[in-house]
Amino acid sequence: MTILGIDTSCDDTCISVLEVKNEQVPRRREKRFNLISNNISSQVKLHAKYGGVYPFLAKREHQKNLPAVFKKTLRQTQGKQIDLIAVTVGPGLEPCLWQGINFAVELAKKNKKPLILVNHIEAHILANFIGGEIKNCFPAICLVVSGGHTQLILMRDVGKYKLLGETRDDAAGECFDKAARILGLGYPGGPIVAKMAKFNPSIDGQELKFQIKLPRPMIYQKNYDFSFSGLKTAVLYDFKNRSLKVRKTKEYIGEISKEVQQSIIDVLIHKTLKTAKDYRVKSIILGGGVAANEELRKQFKEKIQKEIPNTKYIIPDTKYCTDNAAMVATTAYFHRKENFNLQQIKADANLRV
Ligand code: KG4
Ligand code: ZN
Repeated sequence: MTILGIDTSCDDTCISVLEVKNEQVPRRREKRFNLISNNISSQVKLHAKYGGVYPFLAKREHQKNLPAVFKKTLRQTQGKQIDLIAVTVGPGLEPCLWQGINFAVELAKKNKKPLILVNHIEAHILANFIGGEIKNCFPAICLVVSGGHTQLILMRDVGKYKLLGETRDDAAGECFDKAARILGLGYPGGPIVAKMAKFNPSIDGQELKFQIKLPRPMIYQKNYDFSFSGLKTAVLYDFKNRSLKVRKTKEYIGEISKEVQQSIIDVLIHKTLKTAKDYRVKSIILGGGVAANEELRKQFKEKIQKEIPNTKYIIPDTKYCTDNAAMVATTAYFHRKENFNLQQIKADANLRV
C-alpha cells in the first residue's frame, strides 16, 4: 500500500509518500514501512523578519508551493501507484489547513482515490511509528510539545486517546519563540535558544555571571496542565533590567537561554513523569517540534532511568519532530479502514485528539 500525505497546518508545505509492505509476509531484511519521499518546503526565511508566522502570508506560500512540492514528490516516486491520499485537517492555522485540504480533495477526486483525514496532534505522536509499529508500549503517556500545543495525552492504543492536560496559555515552543524574539535571536526560537544555551562561560572555571533564576510555572500543582506565558514575561523583565551593553553580550544571552530552556525542561519532565506514575503506564512517548531539543531528550532519558526504569522511553527521530508529512501518511495507514465523511470536510483550527 502506498500513501501520499499532505500537511500545511503551519508554515511548512509538506508532502510525503510512504510505502507499507504486505502485513502478513514481510520479506526478510526488507523494511515493512518504507518512506519513499519526504519533502518539506520551509517558509522560515519569510516569517523570520516578523518573529512569528503570519497566517495569510503562509497561506499564500502554501498555494504557491504545493504544485511544485507535489511535482518533486512524483519525480521521486517514479510512477509508483498511489493507493491513498491523506491530509491534515487540524489543529493548525485555518487558512493554511484549507490549502492542503483543497489540494488533497482535488487530487483524490481526479484520481478516484480514498481520502483520509488526519489529526495533526495524533500525527506528531505517530511520528514515532514512521519506521514501523512499536510493540508492547500501551498504555502510554504522550507529551506533545510544539509551537501551538503542549498536551499530556493518555494513549491506550492507536486511535484511543484521552487528553489529560494542556497549556492554559502559551505552548512550550511558543515560549521558546517569544523568548528568542525578546532576546533578538530570530525565528524559530527553539533551535537558536538551544544553541545559545550551549555557550558556557563557567567553562574557564568562572562562576556564571548573572545568577539568573526564572520560574518553573505550575510545576508542583496537582493537575496535568501547563502555563508558559509567565516564563516569557519573566524573561522580558530580566532583559529590560539589564543595561544595553549587557543585553548584547554572549555571556548574558548564553546564561538566560540556558535558564529558559532548563525551566521548560524541568516543568515538562516533572509533569510527564508524575502523569506516567499516576497512570502506571508502560511507556512515555514524545512528539512535536520541541521534542527535537537535545537537552530535553537527554534529561528525559536520565530521569526515566532513575525514577521509573521499567518505563519505555519512545522519541521520534529528530527530523520527524518538527512538521512533516511522513507522520501524516503513517497516521493514515493506521486509519486506512475507517470511513470519513467527505461531504462535510472542513479545516478545524482547534481539533482535539
Ligand atoms: O511541531 P512544530 O514543527 O510545529 C507546530 O506544530 O507548531 O513545532 C515548532 C516549534 C517551534 O516553536 C520551534 O521553536 C520548536 O518547535 N522547536 C524547538 C526545537 N526545534 C523546534 N524547540 C526547542 N528546541 C529545538 N531544538
Ligand atoms: Zn506540528
